[in-house]
Amino acid sequence: MLYASLKSIGAYVPNSIMSNKDFEKIVDTTEEWIEQRTGIKQRHIASKDQATSDLAYEAAKVAIQRANLELHDIDAIICATITPDFFCMPSTACVIADKLGIKFATAFDISAACSGFVYALGIAKSFIESGMKKNVLIVGAEKMSSIVDYSDRATCVLFGDGAGAAIISSTDDKAKAILDVKTSSDGEYQDFLITKGCGSRNPCTKEMLDQKKQFLKMKGNETFKLAVNTLTKDVKEILKTNSLSSEDIDFFIPHQANLRIIDAVGKKLNFPNEKIVLTVSKYGNTSAASIPMAINDWYESGKLQKNNLMLLDTFGGGLTWGSALVHFAID
Ligand code: ACO
Repeated sequence: MLYASLKSIGAYVPNSIMSNKDFEKIVDTTEEWIEQRTGIKQRHIASKDQATSDLAYEAAKVAIQRANLELHDIDAIICATITPDFFCMPSTACVIADKLGIKFATAFDISAACSGFVYALGIAKSFIESGMKKNVLIVGAEKMSSIVDYSDRATCVLFGDGAGAAIISSTDDKAKAILDVKTSSDGEYQDFLITKGCGSRNPCTKEMLDQKKQFLKMKGNETFKLAVNTLTKDVKEILKTNSLSSEDIDFFIPHQANLRIIDAVGKKLNFPNEKIVLTVSKYGNTSAASIPMAINDWYESGKLQKNNLMLLDTFGGGLTWGSALVHFAID
């Protein structure tokens, strides 16, 4: 039987760091409020000349090298992002392919906000299991600073820039497999996280820009409550479907949006603190990049070991959410 496996991971963050203290100078907030309400201490911010593909390229290079693959081995590139280099085309995945020097691979973007990486994982798994592709590069990359309104204190303190990448390849060993990926959505809550302007609904006019409609808006409190309940329910379902319990999981890797959401979900699911992966204090919410960046952090710190079973869990704009049971199959 042909399985898909997560063969390697890589990540990149831009050098520049914005601390909570820095926000005291630009909006009505305090260092303490941000840390207490979100768990975030700092976030990395891309430079003016860095686009999402530049962040993605750096992460992808690491993932490809750790997978011991040649560039011509990669036959598909999926980039999950809500901050593509260009408004309509070309896709950021095509730009990444060109930067890497990969020709003729299938390359496309997907838009599922913070759930993008788990959605991409599901697509890559299907590609591999069907025999259609052999090695898929999946990337979650965001320049969130390009869609954040730095005069809106309710959102600007939350987000950071970064990228994470993984290689998904085929294996016949179930102990190395991505066991399951479950993705869902509910468009009823589309206005909980929204950029209202510059799409076909409200094309980009001077009026749109004057009203700052190109920026992200969030109903934070409503999103918070739905996130806690949905993430918890989703994990219970994927564990049950696969006849597993939280004790079988080596690391729980939730989307890094808010420490209070992660704490609440972790408690409801009985995960001990040492099994919960946390990077939100260092990077803030990096949307589709958050989960692969967290996997990479745990790998580079030596905590995540070969063949560990990870449970990924995510929630974001759309609304979208998803979870996945993934062995860390690095050689
Ligand atoms: N500094 C100081 N005060 C603030 C700030 C700030 N940076 N931001 C908001 N406040 C104020 C509000 O104005 C409000 O004041 P009021 O009571 O006078 O009206 C008060 O703090 C409480 O606001 P809430 O929104 O109720 O605060 P809450 O405790 O919910 O925290 C937060 C806000 C951090 C945004 C939280 O709701 C959250 O994390 N939400 C979920 C985020 C999430 O998971 N997003 C999904 C993924 S993102 C994606 O897909 C791209």
